Amino acid sequence: MKNNIFWVGKVDDRKIPFHRLTLEKGTTYNSYLLKTEKPTIIDTVDIMYSREFVENLKEHINIEDIKYVVINHVEPDHAGALPALLNKAKNATIVTTEKARELLNGMFKLHNREYLIIKDGDTLDIGGKTLKFFETPYLHTEETMITYAIEDKVLFPCDIFSTHIATTDLFNDLAKEDIDEDFKVYYSLIMSPHRNYVQDMIGKIKNLDIEMIAPSHGFVLRENVQKYIDLYDRMSSIPNKNLEKKALILYSSMTGNTGKIGEDIGEGLRNLGIDSKVINVKSSSFEEIKSQVEEANLVLLGSSTRYGDMIGNIEEILKKITKLDLSNKYLTSFGSYGWSGEAIEIINDYLKTTNGKLLDTSYIIKATGDNSIKLPLRMSFYDDKEGKELSIKTGRALGELLLK
Ligand code: FEO
Repeated sequence: MKNNIFWVGKVDDRKIPFHRLTLEKGTTYNSYLLKTEKPTIIDTVDIMYSREFVENLKEHINIEDIKYVVINHVEPDHAGALPALLNKAKNATIVTTEKARELLNGMFKLHNREYLIIKDGDTLDIGGKTLKFFETPYLHTEETMITYAIEDKVLFPCDIFSTHIATTDLFNDLAKEDIDEDFKVYYSLIMSPHRNYVQDMIGKIKNLDIEMIAPSHGFVLRENVQKYIDLYDRMSSIPNKNLEKKALILYSSMTGNTGKIGEDIGEGLRNLGIDSKVINVKSSSFEEIKSQVEEANLVLLGSSTRYGDMIGNIEEILKKITKLDLSNKYLTSFGSYGWSGEAIEIINDYLKTTNGKLLDTSYIIKATGDNSIKLPLRMSFYDDKEGKELSIKTGRALGELLLK
């Protein structure tokens, strides 16, 4: 492909069942060999082509010489041939994220292999080339990362910027048909539920000098590279219609922690352009709250737990809210606690009596694929780093659900 970078993938021209769809044009599983003093493989191929992959690789390199195998994403269409490869590449170190290590160990029992765990922005000298890594969580699963070859100006983003086409032409400037529609369909199917993370990723790569994007499916982009980055930017930007969606967060807080969670959830929702109001019920009349509830698409109720119950006057407000027509509104609860979190359960008992849609963890997993978020959001005290991150992430996930 360029400066001792080789495509060593597999073209799969079958009609492939994929995420409840059929890939009518097939796909490719792009794997790359960087032939340097410390030979490096970036991603592998689908598990069903493991043996063929390793056999083909032998034509390019003595497999025992492979020093690093970079795993950007652990799904079996990319990490599937890893066990077969490692079986021959006895000296190879796996380069990946901490979360990916957990998953690989779970999938393939690779506990005894050497890992190099990367963090956002880390670099690795592979003897003649330097790789830089960026964590890109939820693009499209939790552990994902991307790799940039600094001297060659090549980005290896795995699933990101892919197309599902079983091409043997490799480069987009050699494509016999316009690939833009396939590119957009791929984005819409795989990446669009994670648009805020796409924006985070674009922020990380925007100052890189990228001459070529070598993704894990379909064409390698070496013509109009910036056009494809801009397309992702545009498709993941917040459409104005999001501003029509409204969220209301009502809370009562004993020490301020539940209030912080509420403010953070509001921030996460606003990240997606959702008009979000956060109200401490202690300083608000029911008339004011009632009109806000009527306008909202999503209503969250939060309370600290004290003596096994909710606090302040939120219960009085809650009793009145449950008498309103909440049809077509999503409802959920949150709160901080010290020793137990009964308040959230009691709030949910009230919400169950309404005609609104009471959210639980299942809704979030189905909307975002993220199983690290639990609803209702129950938090022991509040940590300025982890607590804040989880609360913002919960707000974003609720936003994704609201926009579906
Ligand atoms: Fe192409 Fe997420 O696997």
